[in-house]
Amino acid sequence: MENLFQVAIDGPAAAGKSTVAKITAKTLGFVYIDTGAMYRSLTYKALKQKKDLNDARQLKKLLNQTEIKLVQEGSGQKVYVDGEDVTERIRYPDVSEHVSLVSSFEDVRTEMVNRQRKLAESCSVVMDGRDIGTHVLPDAQVKIFLIASVDERAVRRYREEELKGRHPSMESLREAIALRDKKDMEREVSPLVKADDAIALDTTSLTIDEVVEQILHFVKEKQHS
Ligand code: CDP
Ligand code: CDP
Repeated sequence: MENLFQVAIDGPAAAGKSTVAKITAKTLGFVYIDTGAMYRSLTYKALKQKKDLNDARQLKKLLNQTEIKLVQEGSGQKVYVDGEDVTERIRYPDVSEHVSLVSSFEDVRTEMVNRQRKLAESCSVVMDGRDIGTHVLPDAQVKIFLIASVDERAVRRYREEELKGRHPSMESLREAIALRDKKDMEREVSPLVKADDAIALDTTSLTIDEVVEQILHFVKEKQHS
């Protein structure tokens, strides 16, 4: 499988990772892998079954009994947990609030990383998350670290909520984003950090198309080198 190509996209919450990863993958004909959706899926199931979210062994056991499927459908991706379509449900605030705790445990991460590497074994991928460039795909040909100011990221989330008819306060969105970033950056196992060889892209004042264009440029450069 020598011709496989890997693009790793990491960064804090609402930096635009999944949006640009999806378009980049589609343009290149690669498979998009949303690793955040995998951690969100386990969190959803653990909440539903009222598991103790501080009990790493219980979470690991639950994960071993859980099938998580990422399915490309049209221009989007659907997420299934044991056959249930949870695409929308895993974005709800209760999951967002607890996902950083669930993903902080080594046992959980080891199994997730195994699954993620397996998904990338047989096809070229664009994978987004927090530890893709540093840990999951350390040999990825292109590594991108997306950032944007907390204010801009809160505005982006607000616009998404508005489309769903919800109007959360900007302050609550800003706080939730900052808190999740803090937990992701401070955890002991595979914290959110830019890989040394990742390209940092500040998207605060960039459109989605401009970000995608830059990533495609880096990919083309590597493909022709
Ligand atoms: O889309 P958003 O930035 O809100 O988050 P996500 O990519 O869906 O990831 C949700 C959470 O899962 C993150 O805040 C991390 O706690 C965890 N995560 C992780 O630990 N490692 C990854 N590779 C991906 C996500
Ligand atoms: O995956 P992550 O949490 O990093 O972010 P996302 O869910 O892809 O993007 C959050 C929101 O920001 C989406 O509604 C995107 O359309 C929007 N966005 C933007 O307005 N400008 C960008 N350059 C990138 C994303």
